Amino acid sequence: MKKIVILISGRGSNMRAIVDACMSQKWPAQIAAVISNKADASGLAYAAGLGIDTAVVVSKEFSSREAFDCVLQQTIDEYSPDLVVLAGFMRILTPAFVEHYAGRLLNIHPSLLPSFTGLATHRQALDAGVKVHGATVHFVTAELDHGPIVAQAVVPVKADDTEDSLALRVLEQEHVIYPQAVRLFVEDKINITGHIVKVSE
Ligand code: GAR
Repeated sequence: MKKIVILISGRGSNMRAIVDACMSQKWPAQIAAVISNKADASGLAYAAGLGIDTAVVVSKEFSSREAFDCVLQQTIDEYSPDLVVLAGFMRILTPAFVEHYAGRLLNIHPSLLPSFTGLATHRQALDAGVKVHGATVHFVTAELDHGPIVAQAVVPVKADDTEDSLALRVLEQEHVIYPQAVRLFVEDKINITGHIVKVSE
């Protein structure tokens, strides 16, 4: 039984999709905890309501990234997770933190990486005039939004799209591919060789 810790910063809709799929599809996994860097993250209540442990490490109370990541790591490691899932966790992580979870730290990013790293990805896509956009699940490495790619979903960009309409279309696909990718991990179907992820069936 694999143990998963999920990190969120806000509404946690991807966390919900993963929790729901884990339970309804009876993965060989347990959501050990949901941890937020913000006390008012609305996703926390959903997890707590299902009896999942929740914790908050308030990032703005720390004077440095290193100090925050150190306490965050201690909080996570109390659960001895096999996998740590970033689900809308809006923090840049220190190299030491990323190294500690190498090969067991997943993120979802709302663009077709390597295009549109960083923030405001839907604005970036509209400004670039791309005709397709999407989302990427990837392992986290020290270079922001550049780790080995596990899964991607493509959505069309429509002529009358706004940032909000495009974000909604992408988010629907995030809720499909993130649970799929986490399931592959907990079922030991993912192999990373260098920068390439291979999925076995
Ligand atoms: C999602 O769209 C996710 O891809 C994005 O934040 C949103 C969180 O939504 N993540 C990033 O931008 C990470 N750089 P959620 O809290 O409802 O899952």
